[in-house]
Amino acid sequence: MIETGLKDKVVIVTGGAAGIGKATARRFAQEGCRVASWDVKEAEAEPGGIFQKVDVTNSAAVDAAVDEVVRRLGGVRVLVNNAGILRDGQLVRMKDGALAGLMSDEQFDAVISVNLKGVFHCTRAVAKQMIAAGSGGAILNASSVVGLYGNFGQTNYVASKAGVIGMTRVWARELGKYGIRVNAVAPGFIATEMVQSMPEKILQGLVARTPVQRMGQPEDIANAYLWLASDAASFVSGAVLSVDGGAVTGT
Ligand code: NAI
Repeated sequence: MIETGLKDKVVIVTGGAAGIGKATARRFAQEGCRVASWDVKEAEAEPGGIFQKVDVTNSAAVDAAVDEVVRRLGGVRVLVNNAGILRDGQLVRMKDGALAGLMSDEQFDAVISVNLKGVFHCTRAVAKQMIAAGSGGAILNASSVVGLYGNFGQTNYVASKAGVIGMTRVWARELGKYGIRVNAVAPGFIATEMVQSMPEKILQGLVARTPVQRMGQPEDIANAYLWLASDAASFVSGAVLSVDGGAVTGT
């Protein structure tokens, strides 16, 4: 057992209603944390925690939600910027020599607004509070293996996930002197609803190309967040931790 130092600490998990976010909220709650779970979809609070309906693209709503967390649970120790969406499409799609589609401005803006700007809104609001409280903290950002390697059909998503890595490195530099560590996790393909809805043949191909020969589970990512937030990782900042069974798309 590692000593996490997280018992009774306050944790915000964005996109906490489903998939990796839900598993992460549960994992921190199991560790004795008081978890504020945020989502645009209704969900249950974890035991000892609260659920708030928050859209991370709305900076005023994010600021108000952080104030509410501080009021109801106490100062924030950990922020997990997990909320994310996909709007896939090729930049230029051709069929039989004719133009068949383009990635739209709406597709591009929607993904950047949740996956990149949402992370900016939440981190700005929480970092301000952490600095004022003077007790340090950990900020954890959801990147992706595709943010490292690129991926067909994901201009918008890859831009957002590579951007998250850039912001992680800036904030590690800016916030370190306040005892705030900032790290990113780059998950491989994780068996959430989003991925499980892919055709069976594609899923089998992904497993075959994964050195550990299985799909990742939401709990694999939740455990990575827990470790990065814990005292056991007190010298880790500005890092991008791949949790992908050995680089799914890099091989
Ligand atoms: P998911 O779609 O199962 O859950 C995402 C949650 O975020 C949903 O509950 C959704 O309602 C919420 N959300 C969406 N827009 C929001 C907004 N504007 N404000 C607040 N909440 C919002 O996704 P999953 O698979 O659990 O992914 C979680 C994170 O991990 C995402 O950032 C994703 O890009 C990243 N990731 C996932 C991988 C996978 O294979 N599942 C691989 C690499 C990264």
